[in-house]
Amino acid sequence: MTSQVRRPPSPPGLPLVGNFLAWLRDPFGIPERWAREHGDIVAMHAFGSTTLMLFAPDPVGELLVKNEASTRKSPLTRGMSCITGDSVVTITGEPWKRRRRLLDPAFRNAQLARYARIVRRHAERYADRWLATPPRDIHAETLEFMFDSLVDVLTDAPLGVDDRAILRRGFEVFWADFSSREFVALSQMTNGEPYRRLVTPRRWRQKRLLAEFDRIIGDLVRRAREAPGEDLLSALLPSVDRDGGLARHELHEDVITVILAAQETTAMGLTMALDLLARHPDVWARVQAEVDAIAGDLDDLAALPYTDAVAREALRLYPPLWGVAREAIAPFSLSGYSVVPGMLLVAAAWVIQRDPRWWGADALTFRPERWLEHNPNTRPRFAWFPFGAGPHLCIGMRFAMMEMVFALATWARRLRFHAESAPPALTTAVTVRPRHPMPLRITARAL
Ligand code: HEM
Repeated sequence: MTSQVRRPPSPPGLPLVGNFLAWLRDPFGIPERWAREHGDIVAMHAFGSTTLMLFAPDPVGELLVKNEASTRKSPLTRGMSCITGDSVVTITGEPWKRRRRLLDPAFRNAQLARYARIVRRHAERYADRWLATPPRDIHAETLEFMFDSLVDVLTDAPLGVDDRAILRRGFEVFWADFSSREFVALSQMTNGEPYRRLVTPRRWRQKRLLAEFDRIIGDLVRRAREAPGEDLLSALLPSVDRDGGLARHELHEDVITVILAAQETTAMGLTMALDLLARHPDVWARVQAEVDAIAGDLDDLAALPYTDAVAREALRLYPPLWGVAREAIAPFSLSGYSVVPGMLLVAAAWVIQRDPRWWGADALTFRPERWLEHNPNTRPRFAWFPFGAGPHLCIGMRFAMMEMVFALATWARRLRFHAESAPPALTTAVTVRPRHPMPLRITARAL
């Protein structure tokens, strides 16, 4: 008896490179076209490997929730461990469960309330700064805003100017390395392993930086131990100082990767929200009206439902991660197709979150109101998943939403944004980001 293997449709491609060059030319438009022309599950071929692209909510649930145990993180994500070590971001299975559980205390409600105060303080500071000196690139600004917030979330201890500069530069370098074509290509093709053994000037620089990071984080941990504060490191110390807890090197690896995972993604969420708001003054006026109705401090997220809808809508149209990727490690069936070990699968947030089937005829319009009108039973569960789904759901989701909402609300009290150029051209390498510096004119709000 022969078993019938159903194969998903595939766009026509070239010998060897398959569909890779088409995808590279336009990683936003081409997959949208594949979805229109070939359906909800499309096989993309490149260099002898197959990637299943998932363009509908149900297969996303099948991948990230139902069959999660038959998958691991993608070679690209795992490749990060060659640079910054294994971390909660790169691993799966039992070792991941342990790491994730040990990190949990840093993301509880009491901690988030403390982080929110830091976010609001920095948002005020950046409002002053933008009014004094018009920013030339709003994405560079939101990245720095995120860095400043994250460092203060990490530690209550004062950080010397030099160490701060080393961390800032270090995160820039790591991010640039992760987004480089060399790293993306090497980790896709080889699971990143040879990268571990490479000796190149870039690798030396990474090693030197990691040694500096170890010194700085080690010092901050020592100070948190001597005088525990309310910061993220102090929240993690009980997980370190016990049997089965985080080893010192694990703590360092997780701190570094959490900051990497948090900075670029949340900054991109803010960058695109500001760009959209600059193009939709009516929406900004409604955010301002919501904020004006609050007499005192902006410390209650529940009082800002419209601002929350703005953040969700920006993350819908511009998910900072184009998709969520996995590699199969055991066979399973997905919407009737056979998935075999080694196959890559990508849940395409960019395509699904812009699809009129789930979002209506105005799917491409920035309309935060849809979040306030929506009856949750009428939209499929995985039509919106900028933070992923299932057990690996972003650990920083509530942190990121809090940061976006409080930053926007703080700026709504004081600022107006004016778009003076066409919407930004975007690129995607690890994250979606603007291709060029993004000017944005900012003026004081006339009261
Ligand atoms: C708008 C901002 C953010 C977006 C869009 C985002 C997106 C995501 C997504 C899609 C995943 C799932 C990856 C996967 O399943 O392979 C993820 C995981 C993760 N995120 Fe975020 N993230 C954001 C902010 C943050 C923040 C602020 C933090 C920490 C403070 C953070 C830390 C992490 C970590 C540690 C993981 C790994 C979770 C795991 O595998 O258990 N992220 N994020």
